[in-house]
Amino acid sequence: MRMILLGPPGAGKGTQAQRLVDAYNIVQLSTGDMLRAAVAAGTPIGQRAKAVMDAGDLVSDDILVGMISDRVNEDDCKNGFILDGFPRTLAQAEALEDMLAQKSLTLNAVIEMKVDDALLIGRITGRYTCANCGAGYHDENLQPKVAGICDNCGRTDFSRRSDDNAEAVTTRLQAYHEQTAPLLPFYQAKGNLKTVDGMADIDEVTRQMKAALEPG
Ligand code: AP5
Ligand code: MG
Repeated sequence: MRMILLGPPGAGKGTQAQRLVDAYNIVQLSTGDMLRAAVAAGTPIGQRAKAVMDAGDLVSDDILVGMISDRVNEDDCKNGFILDGFPRTLAQAEALEDMLAQKSLTLNAVIEMKVDDALLIGRITGRYTCANCGAGYHDENLQPKVAGICDNCGRTDFSRRSDDNAEAVTTRLQAYHEQTAPLLPFYQAKGNLKTVDGMADIDEVTRQMKAALEPG
């Protein structure tokens, strides 16, 4: 199973990817997570990306295409993958087409998560993750079962992203509408675009995604 999750910042791409990984035994390839890991490790890519990400702008296509192209060659991608946050520009989408064609691979689906902008700000400013395992939570919508303790790994340290502030979110939304939304007609024309209601509750979104991934 190979799929793309396409949606604005805060649409729930990471939340749903974590669930689909378990359901289909595939890996999540989040370019945002990869870039944040590069920033944390202080690699040359991380050093170039940090200020761009903090401002809410998109990192250059050549960095992202190189990153994904290396990653899909790794062994754990053999059974399939979920692209979370890639492609984000038409140039990235075209590079992905070439990359997959060279490996004789196809995409099973591109899933659009549709959410109104007004709802996204609250989702993003309320979001936090476990600093140890990366499990995602939200101040109101998705709290750990025991307050202050990660459901997944039991640790008690949590963190918030440096681009989850009102100013950067506005730029991220603008980048989505201007540079990423044109991918919707691109994939529609190829016939593999499916849309789910990203404003429904988290379980319902998962249900709609699994239905969209049914063959036929
Ligand atoms: P990235 O990390 O991809 O950020 P993003 O696209 O802005 O998306 P988010 O991770 O903020 O949101 P999400 O859709 O994953 O939502 P989540 O599940 O967390 O990219 C960050 C930056 O890296 C970019 O700005 C750019 O600079 C750079 N970058 C990355 N990829 C790039 C590329 N390809 N090209 C160029 N630059 C790139 O959910 C949000 C919150 O809402 C959570 O708290 C969650 O619990 C809650 N929630 C989720 N679903 C629901 C629901 N159904 N109901 C209620 N609450 C919900
Ligand atoms: Mg995410």
